[in-house]
Parts: sequence; structure tokens; C-alpha cells
Amino acid sequence: MNLEGKRILIIITGGIAAYKMNTAVRGFIKEGAEVKVILTPAAKDFVTPLTLSVLSRNEVLWDLSSSSGTWNNHVELALWSDAILVAPCTANTLSKMVHGACDNLAMAVYMSAKCPVFIAPAMDLDMYRHPSTRQNIQRAQDFGHILIPAEEGELASGLHGEGRMAEPEHLIETVRQYFESKDFIKNMAGKKVLITAGPTYEAIDPVRFIGNHSSGKMGFALAEEAAKRGADVILISGPSHEKIKGNHIQLIRVTSAKEMFQEVFRYFSGIDMAIASAAVADYAPKEVAAEKIKKDGDSMTIELVKNPDILKTMGEQKKKQFLIGFALETQNEEAHAKEKLHRKNLDMIVLNSLRDSGAGFQTDTNRIRIFTESQEKEFPIKPKSAVAADILDFAVAQMAK
Ligand code: PMT
Repeated sequence: MNLEGKRILIIITGGIAAYKMNTAVRGFIKEGAEVKVILTPAAKDFVTPLTLSVLSRNEVLWDLSSSSGTWNNHVELALWSDAILVAPCTANTLSKMVHGACDNLAMAVYMSAKCPVFIAPAMDLDMYRHPSTRQNIQRAQDFGHILIPAEEGELASGLHGEGRMAEPEHLIETVRQYFESKDFIKNMAGKKVLITAGPTYEAIDPVRFIGNHSSGKMGFALAEEAAKRGADVILISGPSHEKIKGNHIQLIRVTSAKEMFQEVFRYFSGIDMAIASAAVADYAPKEVAAEKIKKDGDSMTIELVKNPDILKTMGEQKKKQFLIGFALETQNEEAHAKEKLHRKNLDMIVLNSLRDSGAGFQTDTNRIRIFTESQEKEFPIKPKSAVAADILDFAVAQMAK
């Protein structure tokens, strides 16, 4: 499972080699990747969205809007991707890519992407040799895209020569090798890292609770990134649908703030770094009703009592631990973040604001600012996996000081 947790967006264009992409999608999934597939309109003549959707375990898209009229957000799709693979890439799509012709969802996603792009051309011999194709391939490589060259062999036209799309195993191997060469940083080897993630649910009665919109995505991304860098990670998460990708992560699932508090302090004395990305409920009902509360009257009052502040308590108890907090704000962001940095005795705080679109709860992306006592740094919107890398790069540099 060498592509574990990698998000691969596959763009399939309208060529006969598209039939091989069912195998390729399956192969990427077997390697542990998350896969989304986008078709160009012509690709639908060669492969079925249904098959690809079953194999990729995701909805397959081809239009800028769905039949129900909702917008397929090309920017979110682009930012979700750790890599884009255009396979097969027809002469037509190749030409659009290098000339910026943006007339379908696939092109809109491609043009919004910040991740590496792999291109696996497939076309007939003479088209592949044509000077315009040669020029377009060169241009794509000049953009920094990675070419997976077409191979020689029998072509659908009956001709024999260069133009066959690389085999699915070769596509997967090229993407795998790329990430292997990138993932060499093990700059947290031997470090013990504790991460809180997700929301907490505070029970009102057996069926109701007070909670929030946290999905756990940010915390799980941090855990995966820290583990990739060689750390031993204890991830303490409130209710979340996220799953662990990668080894060296001990996942402890909790429900309420009090449970999270207990688990955190079971491990706190032995760790080197703590990252509090959980959205912990500040208050919980004073009493939890033993039975479902019945409707009675036009209003009801629930008395709330303050939950323990997990991060603040870590700040009070810290010795060698490097402490990273999060601040989720909706106004006066910087002032609130700096106030939490001091009050909770943190080494670093990560600010995300609900005023930024694509930031905060549930999104696959985030936009952050980092503050320490003497420094601050702003980052553009990125996938949460890349945000996690930015946070850990910054933290590792601070710890080395
Ligand atoms: O899970 P996602 O959908 O991916 O969303 C990610 C996120 C928006 C939840 C995450 O990026 C984030 O901002 N997490 C912190 C949310 C929060 O509770 O912020 P806060 O400003 O209210 O709290 C400040 C800090 O104190 C946080 O580090 C929090 O974990 C911690 N805290 C707060 C209250 C409490 N009782 N105990 C705590 O430890």
C-alpha cells in the first residue's frame, strides 16, 4: 500500500485506451489511494460512469453542474487532489491543456490545480508524431507536468507503432515513485505526538447532544503527516467518520470533552508535542436526563456548566512538550488568536477563520495563519494534507531553535 492516503484525481478523456482505466482505478485503490474520476464529455462514449464510480468509491463527474442544477466545484476538486493524472490524454485535451482552453469540468479542474500533473498520452501513430503534438508535449513538460510516454505496440487503428497509452501498472508505478521520492522527510522520527481532533458531543439525554460541525479532517491530516515524518502519533478524536490512513497512529475515539480530557492526560507526560485541533465544546449540560426529554411547553432551559479546557491545562502542566493550539474565529481573528497563545501558554497557534471560504469545518481545504510569540506567517488556501505539512514544517523549525 504505497500510495496510502494519497488523493489522486483521474481525468479520463475520449480515447479507446479509456477502457484500461477501470483497471488503473482499481490499482490505485489497491495501493491505498483515494481516487476521484472526472470524464471529458467524449470519454463517456468509451467508459461508464457507473463502473468507475463503483471502482473509485466516489461519484464520477463530467459537467460543471449536476443534473439537479448544483455546481460541481472545480476549485475544491483541484485543491482536494495530491496529484492529477490525465489518462488517456488525447491530442485534443493535450492541446487544450497547454493553450488554456477551458470548456469542460476536467479543464476547469486542471487549470485550478496546484498539485503535480501526470499526462499519459494515447493516440494514433501519426497523431503522436505530429509536430503540433510534439510541441504540446514539450510545452506541458515545460509547465512542470510529468509525461508518462506512450508506448510502442499495436494500435486500435490496426497500425503498429508509438501511441499506445502506458499500461495501468506503469501509470500507478510512475505516480508511486513520484511520491516516494517526495516523502523522504522523516524529520519527526522518534517524536511522540498527541493530537486532538473532531468535535465533542455533550449529552442532553439519551438521544440528544450539544455538538459542532467539526469533521475531524484537519486533525486526521495532521496525524497522517506526523506519522509520515516518522513520529509515533496518539490521535484522540471525538465522533468523526474519518478513517486512519498510515501506520504509527494510535487512534482513541471519545465522545465528550471530559472523556477527551481523561485520555489526553493519560499520555501527556510522555509526549514531545501536542496539537489541539479538536473543536471541544466549552459547556456541557449540568445534568444528563436518564430518559428522552418529552415535549412539554413552548420553551425549555438547559443549564450548562463549563467543560475543562484541555489545552489550557496542557499549558499549565507542560514541561518539555511543544504545544500547538488552534483558534477558530469569526471576528477580530488575530487579536483572539494571540490572546489564546498567551492565556493557554502555547508555543504556537494556528488561526483559521470561518470568514474565509474553504476554511474551517468540514472542508477538504483550509487557510491558516500561524503565530508564535515573535513570528507570524500567512499561508494560501490548500488541501488539509498540505496545511498539515505547513504546520509541521513550521513547528519542527521552531523546536530546532
Ligand atoms: O474537523 P474539521 O472539520 O477538519 O475542522 C477543523 C477545525 C475548524 C475544527 C480546526 O481547524 C480548528 O480550528 N480547531 C479548533 C476549534 C476550536 O475549538 O477553537 P477554539 O478557538 O474554540 O479553541 C482554542 C483551542 O483550545 C483549540 O486548540 C481547542 O482544541 C482548545 N480547547 C478549547 C476548549 C476546550 N474546552 N478545550 C480545548 O482544548
